[in-house]
Amino acid sequence: MRQIWISKAGEPETLRIQEAPDPMPRIGEVRIRVEASGVNFADILGRMGIYPDAPKIPYVPGYEVAGVVDAVGQGAPDFREGDKVFAATRFGGYSDVVCVPYKQVYKRLDWMTAVDAASLPVNYITAYMMLIVMGSLRPGDKVLIHGVGGGVGLAALDICNIVGVETYGTASPEKHAFLSQRGLQYPIDYRNKDYERVIQDLTGRKGVQLILDPAGGKHWPKNYRLLSPSGRLIYFGVSSMALGKRRSLLDTLRMLVWLPFYTPFKLMNDNKAVMGVNLGHLWEQTGMLRDWMGQIIAWYDEALFRPHVDTAFPFAQAAEAHHYIQDRRNTGKVLLLPKGEGSGSQERGVRG
Ligand SMILES: NC(=O)c1ccc[n+]([C@@H]2O[C@H](COP(=O)([O-])OP(=O)(O)OC[C@H]3O[C@@H](n4cnc5c(N)ncnc54)[C@H](OP(=O)(O)O)[C@@H]3O)[C@@H](O)[C@H]2O)c1
Repeated sequence: MRQIWISKAGEPETLRIQEAPDPMPRIGEVRIRVEASGVNFADILGRMGIYPDAPKIPYVPGYEVAGVVDAVGQGAPDFREGDKVFAATRFGGYSDVVCVPYKQVYKRLDWMTAVDAASLPVNYITAYMMLIVMGSLRPGDKVLIHGVGGGVGLAALDICNIVGVETYGTASPEKHAFLSQRGLQYPIDYRNKDYERVIQDLTGRKGVQLILDPAGGKHWPKNYRLLSPSGRLIYFGVSSMALGKRRSLLDTLRMLVWLPFYTPFKLMNDNKAVMGVNLGHLWEQTGMLRDWMGQIIAWYDEALFRPHVDTAFPFAQAAEAHHYIQDRRNTGKVLLLPKGEGSGSQERGVRG
């Protein structure tokens, strides 16, 4: 098999392809011949050496794959060779063969491409958990999605459109036309404008009911101020710790000076809720995750959404894939293809 390793902490060029014998599935595992692997921001933080949950470097990153089952271990009911599947992997997904516990594997619908399927686990489960489970989203709510042009951001927008809420989203300005077409009502150019002022103006200083914050740092207090009474703020990332492509103590310290301290008295008196989400700490909760994924697959089945894949890079260009995301060029999902060919629709770019 071929795998992409983070060989040492640093810039994208530290990603290296290595060959190894194919693994055999253990009890309760299925082996998947991978057609597409998802790239996530956590892989980038891991490569920079600033992801606390990552294994010790060197390791193979990757949280999600789609492909075909080619071997089934004992005690993995319901799966057989030839099944088209996708899976949540928690590391090891940048590989053309993976063995995964069967509870983390999902069957693909006949009309679900590998490219679509590899885009679902991290982005859509994270967005579903934040909006539906913790955010108690209701039709008519006003929602602010930061990084709405990214993988989780677009997944969140899709779910907001299904529920029928008013959407505000921050993104680089060149993504706005696409985002409007995709149903975002208020695209906000956070790079050239103060989004807090823009949203206060747009909402008549009433704020919004739900905010998804993947950035942290100076955004922590800004977002709290933007919540309306009964509003919910969900922290789920620290991308402001990764402004360059190498670990930076200065970026970390800059972020930490903004650490907020909410007392129960303040939360009660403000009628606001502050929550956190880390999918990486939910991996054992397979029943819950399968339940949420069931709803996401049902929406896919009803054609209520299709993930938007920006670009699929061949394995040999994994470093370019990381640069592409860190240069903020992606709109939607970035994938890696072991064979370097895509199976997506025409709107998708496939580099080879
Ligand atoms: N807690 C969880 O369970 C969980 C799960 C998944 C993802 N996350 C977090 O959610 C965020 C988005 O993840 P993703 O995988 O969807 O990311 P992604 O698609 O790779 O998003 C990249 C986009 O984010 C924006 N961005 C903002 N700050 C950035 C920075 N410092 N460096 C590069 N891009 C930046 C850029 O778009 P614009 O220029 O348009 O802003 C960029 O195109 C990350 O913070 C990630 O760690 C958390």
